[in-house]
Amino acid sequence: MKSIKLPIFLLFIFSFFCNEAGADEPDSAYIFAYTTHKQNNTAGLHYAWSVDRENWFGIGPEFRFLASDFGRWGTQKKIINPILFQDEEGLYHCLWTLNDDVGQFAHAASEDLYQWKRQSYPQVMGNGNVLNLEVSSDKKNNRYLVTWESEIDGELKRFKTTTTDFKNYSETTGIIKDKRLGLRETVRIDGELQTGTVKKISWKTIDGLIKWYEWSQFHSMERADNMRKDQERFKDLRKVDASIKLIPERSKKISDKLVGIFFEDISYAADGGLYAELVQNRGFEYALSDKSGNDPSWNSYKAWSLNGENASFKIDSVSPIHENNKHFVVLEIAEIGAALVNEGFDGIAVKEGNRYDFSVFAKIMEPKKGKLLIRLTDENNKVIAETRTKSIATTWKKYEAVLTVNKTVDNAKLEVVPEFNGKVALDMISLFPQNTFKGRKNGLREDLAQAIADIHPKFVRFPGGCVAHGDGLHNMYRWNRTVGPLETRVPQRNIWNYHQSAGLGYFEYFQFCEDIGAEPLPVLPAGVPCQNSGTCGHGQQGGIPMAEMDEYVQEVLDLIEWANGDKNTKWGRIRAEAGHPEPFNLKYIGIGNEDLITDIFEERFTMIFNALKEKHPEIVVIGTVGPFYTGTDYEEGWDIATKLQVPMVDEHYYQPPGWFIHNQDFYDRYDRSKSKVYLGEYAAHLPGRPNNIETALSEALYMTTLERNGDIVEMSSYAPLLAKEEHINWAPDLIYFNNTEVKPTVGYYVQKLFGQNSGETYIPAEIQLSENREDIKKRVAVSVVQDNATNDVIVKLVNLLPAEVNANLDFTDINIADSEAGLTVLKGKPEDKSALPSTTKISVDSEFEYKLPGYSFSVIRIRTNSIKNTD
Ligand code: AHR
Repeated sequence: MKSIKLPIFLLFIFSFFCNEAGADEPDSAYIFAYTTHKQNNTAGLHYAWSVDRENWFGIGPEFRFLASDFGRWGTQKKIINPILFQDEEGLYHCLWTLNDDVGQFAHAASEDLYQWKRQSYPQVMGNGNVLNLEVSSDKKNNRYLVTWESEIDGELKRFKTTTTDFKNYSETTGIIKDKRLGLRETVRIDGELQTGTVKKISWKTIDGLIKWYEWSQFHSMERADNMRKDQERFKDLRKVDASIKLIPERSKKISDKLVGIFFEDISYAADGGLYAELVQNRGFEYALSDKSGNDPSWNSYKAWSLNGENASFKIDSVSPIHENNKHFVVLEIAEIGAALVNEGFDGIAVKEGNRYDFSVFAKIMEPKKGKLLIRLTDENNKVIAETRTKSIATTWKKYEAVLTVNKTVDNAKLEVVPEFNGKVALDMISLFPQNTFKGRKNGLREDLAQAIADIHPKFVRFPGGCVAHGDGLHNMYRWNRTVGPLETRVPQRNIWNYHQSAGLGYFEYFQFCEDIGAEPLPVLPAGVPCQNSGTCGHGQQGGIPMAEMDEYVQEVLDLIEWANGDKNTKWGRIRAEAGHPEPFNLKYIGIGNEDLITDIFEERFTMIFNALKEKHPEIVVIGTVGPFYTGTDYEEGWDIATKLQVPMVDEHYYQPPGWFIHNQDFYDRYDRSKSKVYLGEYAAHLPGRPNNIETALSEALYMTTLERNGDIVEMSSYAPLLAKEEHINWAPDLIYFNNTEVKPTVGYYVQKLFGQNSGETYIPAEIQLSENREDIKKRVAVSVVQDNATNDVIVKLVNLLPAEVNANLDFTDINIADSEAGLTVLKGKPEDKSALPSTTKISVDSEFEYKLPGYSFSVIRIRTNSIKNTD
């Protein structure tokens, strides 16, 4: 897609400058490619140029033309001692050392030295690192020779491999005698000595690098555009007049799934959040390894304590309820009265008069029988609810009881009190409100689920985000480990540094979708983990071994049988046993989450995609094109999608408001014959990461462009959705919450207004402003859709100017059925985080006036009989 991504006027400037060297410019010059040790070697590849090989001019200087994508974010993505050379066909190659411990080096190629193709990290050493790389052309044998040094037992030893294509390498062999080629030299740039490689190349290429840098600067400037500058920029602007005329004859069908939600278990969105379980660590499966940073309290005992004397408890794992749920607690009571206490997730919030379902797996060890007293206590240890189990048997059994609470408490505790002296084993100690969303057992928190449902999302994407592909191969989210009885599910470490119980698993996600009338959109790993993984090697180091890929492909196919298969099929039966004999009617499946596009990725993605295409052509497969709106993963991801004819791709971009303002034509320029787009993750990010009127209005502005391009943009979802106060991994989010409150953001209201006011027909509108300034024109937007179910015509108007816009709306071609229309307005100061939309009525006619307040988003919903000329 690359060639059509530059704004048109910039393309013009760029190509004008790039074409021919000026009369006084050289045909060729020297380019120097180097890195510095700054930012711990993560600052990337830089260039300087020279005509005489003595006086060097840094481009940027120290602009990053290439970044490594090896390993975890931050400290690991290094480029050390790069070597740049050009092959016979003119393609540039860069090889570099990744760090001083892995037996791999990195390779990337480029035609122009600024747009780099996918990276690869060949494993050339079993033991030992790869330092001081050199590469030379072995013309006689039509191949390249790559040599390096490796520290082995304190000594530097030499090794080599050969390659013809920088994809396949011969077996590594040691070099006994070898002269190093000495390919690097040291030059002075801006007073500092730098070491790198020098090449003579065409001036046109160097000029291209300079222009690329300049374009990047311009682009950064646009991105940095913000509303703080408005005071000065629009200081003389009093008001703007706008005339808006509908053009029904150019109406087009657009997606009926444009607004959905992105759900990821990030910032305690699932356990302790949407999943209504009130007991933390109910299965005693928390483990030190859930979290980085060695938190010694994060273990099987987490959230549990004893209240009372002459008692003890310890974690055991011999003869558990199920092998997937190994740990349980053994409570020993020498004197009746002591309780095993759970503190919940930041306390347990309960409401007076409400009923709560308690359950536990238990087996008594001494004596032979006895009951458990179950109670809830308040902050002063006063009992606010109490019940009893039946007598506990000597083998594992599930016991259930109901607690009715007599006082509203935000910070209650759950107590399990054996009514006998002796020993009892307990596991899966659980407490759920009976008032879950739609009253589902093992259900969702009602207020949070309702806030999500109120968006009227047309689909729900789950389980992530990065949670989907996981932190290393062993942390991928495997759907089939999250279905079936709770005690048999496989809990695991959450990539966001906590624990996933899998209580909110695939069944619950699908059930929720059905409950809110949204399409389920599961995203499964493409056989590779997150490229930023911190465990099992460095990032996306190999995917699932090819020998195991057939099994993995089958696992993906099994999901479709589980969701859509008859209840007599193997997986359909498991769904039916969980309480859903009818198929879920799954239509979409995402493969991969903003993965690094490598050969390893492509091989595995292609296998999965081809199998899905062959066995389930009815399923819309959604591919992935990296974490940005541009760059290598975006380009290469799109290339794969085009080559394989993947029906849809998942794009992600988190950008400042300025980007959204200056890229409103992003999808206008998309090729309509290629894959459709799911804008799966996006949000406007300002420094400090607030969710305020400035971010919300820039999102609203951009969403009008999504509607305009609803013929190609099929779906979109703001990300992330939920974040629990005190546990925020990422900001901004759409909805913040704590145990008792739901706190929707201004961005939430934008999503809700779009979700509740969607349409399947887009009616173009011509907008003419009294001001002809580009910066003013970019800040006023209109989008008109018709909701086919009601015939309502919905007008969305966004004003990012501090001044009012007096709009005259020409609706001559609309047969208005009711002269009173609904009007909802969200407005505020740019930094306002608490503005609420207000709803009133407005009189409408074939021509009517409406004043868009400064910094506002307005939705006018008009009842119509029909529209002339839309067929
Ligand atoms: O939305 C938060 C994270 O952003 C997602 O997990 C990941 O896909 C993206 O980088």
